[in-house]
Parts: sequence; C-alpha cells; structure tokens
Amino acid sequence: MAKPKKIIVTGGLGYIGSHTVVELQQRGYEVVIADNLSNSSASVADRIGRITGETPVLEVLDLSDRTACLRFFNIHADAGAVIHFAAAKAVNESVHKPLHYYRNNIDALLYVLEGMEAVGCRKLVFSSSCTVYGQPERLPVTEDTPRLEAMSPYGNTKRICEDILSDTVKASQEWKFLALRYFNPIGAHESALIGELPNGVPANLMPYITQSVAGLRPALQVFGHDYPTPDGTPVRDYIHVSDLAEAHVAAMEYLGKPGFSGMDFFNVGTGRGYSVLEVIQSFERATGKKVNYEIKERRQGDITQIWADTSKASRLLGWKACRDLDQMTSSAWKWQENLARAK
Ligand code: WQD
Repeated sequence: MAKPKKIIVTGGLGYIGSHTVVELQQRGYEVVIADNLSNSSASVADRIGRITGETPVLEVLDLSDRTACLRFFNIHADAGAVIHFAAAKAVNESVHKPLHYYRNNIDALLYVLEGMEAVGCRKLVFSSSCTVYGQPERLPVTEDTPRLEAMSPYGNTKRICEDILSDTVKASQEWKFLALRYFNPIGAHESALIGELPNGVPANLMPYITQSVAGLRPALQVFGHDYPTPDGTPVRDYIHVSDLAEAHVAAMEYLGKPGFSGMDFFNVGTGRGYSVLEVIQSFERATGKKVNYEIKERRQGDITQIWADTSKASRLLGWKACRDLDQMTSSAWKWQENLARAK
C-alpha cells in the first residue's frame, strides 16, 4: 500500500504525541497536529521542526467542540489515518473533575469519528492505557486479560472509548481501529528538545524525580514500602517514550495492511517490571545524581504490580521496545537539564 500522504495526530503537542510526530515525519509522513494547547504549548511544534527539519502543521482547536472538529476534518479531508492522543490524562484530577473528563475525553473521540466518517477516513490508532486492567490477578498481562473496574474516571474514559470503537466496527466493517494499551511511558527524545512537561506538581514518578533532583521540588515521597514485591515498592512496566512512539508508527502502518479490518488491541510495554527503588537506582547510576527520598504511606488507587506480555505486538506489528531503563532515566534527566538551560 502506498504511504498515506497525510496523518492527523490529535494531541500531537503532548508528551507521547510529540514523540510520535517526530517518528512519523522521520519516516516520510506529512503530519497535521490538532491540539487545544490545554496541556502543551505551540513552541513544541517548533522543537519538533528542529529535530526533523520540518515543522508540522498545527491547527489549534478543541476537538470536543463539534463544529470546530468537523470543520477541521473538512480542511484535511485527504488524511489517510488518525492517531488520537487528545484527552485529559491526570488520574488524580479525574477523581475530582469526573464530568470534565467524561465530557472532554468521550466527546472528543465521538466528534473525531464523526469528522472521519464525513471525509471517508477510516483508520484510527487510539491511545489507551494499561489502567483498563486494574490490578491483574496473573502477570504478565496479555490483551485477553479481563478489563477490571477502572480505578479512576480517567481510566473509565479509556475503557468507554475502547467500547465505542469496538461497537462502531461491529456496525460497519469499513472502519479499522487499533487500541494501544500503554504501560508507563518515561524518558525523552535523545535530542532533549522534547519531553514530559506536566502542569503543576508532577503526579508521575519520573518527572517528579527529575524536578526534585533539579532542586525544583522537595525530596521525592516514595508512596509505600510494604507492598508484596521484592523490595516492598510497587512494580511497573516502564517504557521509553521513543519506543512507544515507534509502536504508533508500526500500528498505523499495520492498519493499512491488506486483510486487516475491524479492531484489535495491543499491550505496549517492555515486558519487564521495575520497582520504584529500581527506578531510583537506575537514575542515580545513569546520571551520577543522588535522589533524596522519604518513604511515605501508600497512595490511594495505586496497584501493586503490573507488566506486559508484549508478544502480540512483536508478532503482528513487528515492533519491540529496544531502550533499557538506564536510557529512559538518563534521557529524562538530559531533558530536565535542557529545560533549565532554556529558561
Ligand atoms: C508509578 C509508581 C507510585 C510518584 C499512571 C496512570 C497510568 C498511566 C501512567 C496514563 C507508583 C510511585 C509516583 C511519586 C511515588 N498514565 N510514585 N512517588 O500511577 O503507575 O500510572 O501513569 O495512561 O494510567 O495511572 O504512574 O508514575 O504515577 O507512579 O512513589 O511522587 O511510582 O506509587 O508505584 P502510575 P506513576
């Protein structure tokens, strides 16, 4: 199949979206970003341009605004596929603002699908999350592991969006969808020009570590040391954001393969779990920096451990994560140092 000329990336200025745009452009795709700047800035498009030599087209709009979304798709009616990242994604915030999360995350997907249908674009890669599994009974998690009750409204929007997509393909086989269930993305592009830039105090482990070591935050609080894990701290399948970005390109190209129709799901992790203390040890080893931390109570909603069985993505997408934990932690620190220089 000839490469589709234009790929729409919604939320393409965000952490995972921006890294995916870089990988798409470096493989010869023309990219149009749709982003509402709610959790990113337009300068990210310029930084992407500095990496790839081509600044992606940026359309600033809120995809949960139906009129704006349909107008956007009419302008880009020649798009060959959509990679849909645009969503609010702060787990803790979703607990306090459930209506915003349901409205924003579900309306955006519904209007994107309506826009795609209007212009005959039928291929979509959906940004899902391992959070749909809750605390699995058996590890590693396969794509057939039952989805459990979501631990947050954020997680529930991911589950609902997966169901919207699977019901849509049941009604019409013209659609082709892939849902990528991410594990824990960390790290930054090797150029240190793009990376994670959470609003406010980071809820996630890696950006908190880098901001704390940079002297921007107090010492790291390790939420719980009494879990039934080898060192008592929770285990997650951390994956380099560039590996995750490459998985999106492989998934988008898989959608174009003859014979694929309907919907499929892929776990996107490394297949290996690391504890919080192991991440800290990796960071110190890879950067030579000391991480000051205090052991605190468990954080509500945290699961004990999860890591992926990634054999399906390897078999069908021909994709496998190739960056190790030290590359993840050292790239996160390089990005933090570059941020400090850019201030
Ligand atoms: C990782 C570990 C914390 C901060 C979340 C979302 C998930 C996905 C990835 C979107 C846990 C511990 C953290 C801190 C700590 N996002 N921790 N001190 O919760 O596994 O997953 O982000 O799809 O949906 O749920 O990631 O980085 O918040 O936590 O001890 O200051 O680090 O307890 O064990 P999490 P995280």
